[in-house]
Amino acid sequence: MGGILPLVSFGALVLASTTASTPTGSATTTTTKLCVQLQIPVHVVATNYHYDQPRVDSSIDAIDWTVNVTTWSSSNFTERITERVDVNKTFNIGAQLCVPSRKTSKAGILQIATPGLGFGKEYFDVKVDPQQYSYVDAAINKGYSVLSYDRLGTGASEKPDAYDDVQIPVEIEILAGLTKIARGGKLLSSSNASSAISNASAKFDFVPTKIVHIGHSFGSYINSLMLINYPDIIDGAIFTGLYPNSIEATNPLNVLNYNHAFAKESDPVRFAKYGSGYFVLDNEETLQKLFFQKATLDPALLTYADSIKQPEAIGEYSSEDDNPLAPAPNYKGPLMFFVGEFDNFICNGNCSGIYSEAFARQIYPGVGVDDLTYYLQPNTGHASMLSTNASAGYEVMLGFLDSRGL
Ligand SMILES: *[C@@H]1O[C@H](CO)[C@@H](O)[C@H](O)[C@H]1NC(C)=O
Ligand SMILES: *[C@@H]1O[C@H](CO)[C@@H](O)[C@H](O)[C@H]1NC(C)=O
Ligand SMILES: *[C@@H]1O[C@H](CO)[C@@H](O)[C@H](O)[C@H]1NC(C)=O
Ligand SMILES: *[C@@H]1O[C@H](CO)[C@@H](O)[C@H](O)[C@H]1NC(C)=O
Ligand SMILES: *[C@@H]1O[C@H](CO)[C@@H](O)[C@H](O)[C@H]1NC(C)=O
Ligand SMILES: *[C@@H]1O[C@H](CO)[C@@H](O)[C@H](O)[C@H]1NC(C)=O
Ligand SMILES: *[C@@H]1O[C@H](CO)[C@@H](O)[C@H](O)[C@H]1NC(C)=O
Repeated sequence: MGGILPLVSFGALVLASTTASTPTGSATTTTTKLCVQLQIPVHVVATNYHYDQPRVDSSIDAIDWTVNVTTWSSSNFTERITERVDVNKTFNIGAQLCVPSRKTSKAGILQIATPGLGFGKEYFDVKVDPQQYSYVDAAINKGYSVLSYDRLGTGASEKPDAYDDVQIPVEIEILAGLTKIARGGKLLSSSNASSAISNASAKFDFVPTKIVHIGHSFGSYINSLMLINYPDIIDGAIFTGLYPNSIEATNPLNVLNYNHAFAKESDPVRFAKYGSGYFVLDNEETLQKLFFQKATLDPALLTYADSIKQPEAIGEYSSEDDNPLAPAPNYKGPLMFFVGEFDNFICNGNCSGIYSEAFARQIYPGVGVDDLTYYLQPNTGHASMLSTNASAGYEVMLGFLDSRGL
């Protein structure tokens, strides 16, 4: 668990119109957010591996797995590979596409948001006090369109084999596949029930002029790896919860320091569809350790985090050693790392003074010096979008994009 991320029913399309509120005191007219829920089939060809590791079919197994993979002599997963798994399948991906109701100059810019481990697309669209916390609302208010999706094995997406299917190489191809579908203006037409959208479809059926990727944590990691083979399909990126730094090798907050429960045992109703190999962060204490800092912790958001948390597939952890952050020399767009100043997960609690410019430039040598930047959000933990000061952070993120013509 080393690396920069130390570990990190097909119904009708539903058309929902909600109000993205404007900041108090602002004279701007209120922007309405129009959203559709989509099921998008994405065809994936990728190479995964089968790893020799304990199976997880109970919460006792979940802890046993944790101990085994962190303390056993072969804690490096690469040494556990027993065979190659060629994936050539179509996976159904649950996504939400939101567009501003009024005409805006940025509506053609589509942001595609990938959540991190433990969360689904709700991470970006917080329902508690949304004018304060929802990133989607903040982006819609600035005029952008936003596609957020559930990673494979979470939320409204398909939940295939947690060991052999749900691995980093497949997740990279899903992100690239979704991005290409979006670029072609085919999000609606490739999604099964597009007719159900009827009149409003014209608003959703657009060919984006630009695409920007937003990631959180493991989602940022997938994004970065995607840029190796697909450097040209996006125009800019903001990676939250990912930070090129100099201490990652000694970071003690590995999977042994927080608890997983077998998803179906943890909540038999909510996680009924999650089979062998899917576990979930077991309680609010674990979520607090990983994602929050007291100075910016709203207890209502900690409870909310627990209510939206999503299971993680074992394959996401086991494929990490084989897929380290690596140079994406041909990516040339602007890129910001946006990180909580006191992120436990990636900085062992203090991100100040450890940004590694050399590491960042080694991974993204093609990005202009002024376009490769980082920002430390004060007093904030790993889940910056669930912190009390989240909206001020959105101003920084969206301001960065605007300053780069996005
Ligand atoms: C760890 O898991 C491997 C693979 O399932 C197994 O062969 C090994 O005996 C386990 N080690 C311990 C100490 O439980
Ligand atoms: C894991 O082992 C492989 C093969 O032995 C090696 O190339 C790689 O650097 C190791 N990774 C880590 C994180 O130790
Ligand atoms: C994927 O499967 C399809 C259908 O079986 C086949 O036509 C295609 O050649 C396969 N692609 C690869 C890369 O194996
Ligand atoms: C979409 O429709 C096709 C053809 O009817 C079907 O094979 C596929 O399973 C459907 N996908 C979903 C997500 O229902
Ligand atoms: C659909 O759009 C047409 C033309 O804009 C309008 O006359 C009609 O009332 C709309 N129907 C619905 C159900 O919104
Ligand atoms: C965080 O690290 C920086 C740089 O080493 C140091 O100046 C600062 O005092 C530290 N902050 C805290 C709260 O420990
Ligand atoms: C909130 O975030 C903004 C933007 O990063 C920052 O300027 C401000 O100092 C933060 N406020 C607090 C109380 O941390």
